[in-house]
Amino acid sequence: MARRKIGVVGAGQVGATLVQRLAERQLGDLVMIDIVEGVPQGKSLDLAEAAPLEGYDALLTGAQGYEAVAGADLVVVTAGLPRKPGMSRDDLLKKNADIVGGVVDQVVKHAPDCVLIVVSNPLDVMTHLAWVRSRFEKRRVIGMAGVLDSARLRAFIAMEIGVSVKDVQAMVLGGHGDDMVPLPRYSTVSGIPITELLPAAAIERLISRTRSGGAEIVGFLKTGSAFYAPSSSVVQMVESILLDQKRVLPCCVRLEGEYGISDIFAGVPVILGARGVERILEIPLSAEEKKYLTISAEHVRANIAVLNKLL
Ligand code: APR
Repeated sequence: MARRKIGVVGAGQVGATLVQRLAERQLGDLVMIDIVEGVPQGKSLDLAEAAPLEGYDALLTGAQGYEAVAGADLVVVTAGLPRKPGMSRDDLLKKNADIVGGVVDQVVKHAPDCVLIVVSNPLDVMTHLAWVRSRFEKRRVIGMAGVLDSARLRAFIAMEIGVSVKDVQAMVLGGHGDDMVPLPRYSTVSGIPITELLPAAAIERLISRTRSGGAEIVGFLKTGSAFYAPSSSVVQMVESILLDQKRVLPCCVRLEGEYGISDIFAGVPVILGARGVERILEIPLSAEEKKYLTISAEHVRANIAVLNKLL
């Protein structure tokens, strides 16, 4: 079978680390696109020269023009500005909307059959914008947030209890913002809900750290935002789609009545396979969990209204 083709737009921290991780897993040939001349070319060549040492077979190319992503099976959009200290993801809205809108127009022109994964922030709004601009079926436009937020919570649970991260699962729903909705009832260590293993105060502390997980990293880095865990999160989604693994992952998808929410993108558990979003899973929520999910969704809706005024 011919190798799959994966495009990554934005050859910055998230994009380049993502291409490295995808190459090392031999998930396909990789094309990096960036507006800055030379950067995607240089990083792709560097990664191609690492291939004999790491032992991966992948064609790695970099370009400014979107002809390079022609016929791609999957394209990940990481183009945009990252947060600086004190900035919320929403502060990035206008600038990144201009960038993401233009990028999506070009991607659609050259890779009309691809699955689009959006990483640029504010995530839920940018994913909505990518769906509107691409005119793709909703199953083919997916935002990366829930996998990252859940991975952060998993890491914190493992650190707190002192167990292997491999045994920890977590579920975080809602928008990718401070009002995201971590679900302790559905977060487990080898099947045991964390509510049975940790006192309520500790769970609250881990939830609060998860909500500000992105800001914690920005606070350290000062000139940029997280990229190791975000790129790993995208890899898990890409793998599930290209290998048709049908993994159940929290992803930002368009809701049309599920969880009582309509016409916006927000994070919920989905089955990811060759067709993209193959099914949205509706898990039972308590009244309180539902309330927080609705608040988070309404925040996304308000930001989409801001976006619509800008367009
Ligand atoms: N077309 C292509 N690439 C672009 C464009 C554009 N119109 N505008 C900016 N870029 C590129 C930049 O040149 C840069 O190389 O996008 C890249 C972004 O990389 P970084 O600045 O390193 O940002 P990164 O940390 O990778 O974050 C990218 O993902 O997590 C989100 O909030 C984050 O929105 C941000 C995005």
